[in-house]
Amino acid sequence: MWDIRKRRIRMITTGSRRLKGRNIVSNILKGRDFVSLNDFTTEEIWQIVEAARAVKLRIRAGLLDRPLEGKTLGMIFTKPSTRTRISFEVGIWQLGGVGLFLSADELQLRRGETIEDTARVLSRYLDGIMIRTYDHQDVVDLAANSTIPVINGLTDLLHPCQALSDLLTIWEKLGRVRGVKFAFTGDGNNNMVHSLLIAAAKMGMDIRVASPEGFQPQPEIVRVAEQGAEETGARIMITDDPIEAVRGVEVVYADVWTSMGQEEGEDERLNTLMPYQINRALWQHVDPGAIFMHCLPAHREEEVTADIIDGPMSVVFDQAENRLHAQKAIMALTM
Ligand code: CP
Ligand code: NVA
Repeated sequence: MWDIRKRRIRMITTGSRRLKGRNIVSNILKGRDFVSLNDFTTEEIWQIVEAARAVKLRIRAGLLDRPLEGKTLGMIFTKPSTRTRISFEVGIWQLGGVGLFLSADELQLRRGETIEDTARVLSRYLDGIMIRTYDHQDVVDLAANSTIPVINGLTDLLHPCQALSDLLTIWEKLGRVRGVKFAFTGDGNNNMVHSLLIAAAKMGMDIRVASPEGFQPQPEIVRVAEQGAEETGARIMITDDPIEAVRGVEVVYADVWTSMGQEEGEDERLNTLMPYQINRALWQHVDPGAIFMHCLPAHREEEVTADIIDGPMSVVFDQAENRLHAQKAIMALTM
């Protein structure tokens, strides 16, 4: 029996009035970078998620807050994007500011200008930078040399904006985050899994990751998550058994098997990861009210079958929408 709707209504009727009346801007995170969720306390993450929910309720009620009037966000992309680009661009506009799309190919970065000099120059023109790129260290260096907030829009290592938005979606769908049983199956050595591990540990969510040998999360990230979990009581399981991972869970999450930049050897990856596909057979083992999540873009019949991602358990388009609200909260709070 699906009890998702019931759970959702319960959450929305408790607390939505308080959040809708809330001033979305506070100074607590002003000037902070948003590079990894590990840079934030549990309390701070929760404050951003609550602000995101307030932003969502207010825009749906026709209330247009414009706390970033006159501010400009530069958006650097060295990888493609649909959701991140459009949700940041629409988000900054809704907040009263302007977004500048900066293709890395057209910046002097491509001709060898350093990240450090780029950071110093952009800090003189802009009020915030969002960057999507390959090497996580580039984002760390950009943040270290900027005097304005830098937001990580995805690196090979992390995707914190997606993980933060996903916390909002889980809260809305299940009415809570702490103690939720969450599983990921597929390529575990992946930016989504790394950010979800950190998010789960920080928020007290039990997370299980099932991947074959050679595709498991980076040990350094697992260590960071385990440290966070010590404070919140979250339980972390890394396994190669997808059934063990999904047994009784309330959330099952998938991402593509070939992330951007990993296209070489794609066929071999697909063969190795096929036993980790989320399909009807695997779904027999989850909690009866479980939801299916995916950061998108999805490849149907690879990491997930169409009957799951297009079925009643799927919340993937709510997730995509929540990128907009969560990132507006990040921008409003840091810029
Ligand atoms: N989920 C996500 O970040 O999507 P895009 O690659 O389209 O931005
Ligand atoms: N792991 C995927 C996420 C896409 C949003 C990638 O990096 O391509």
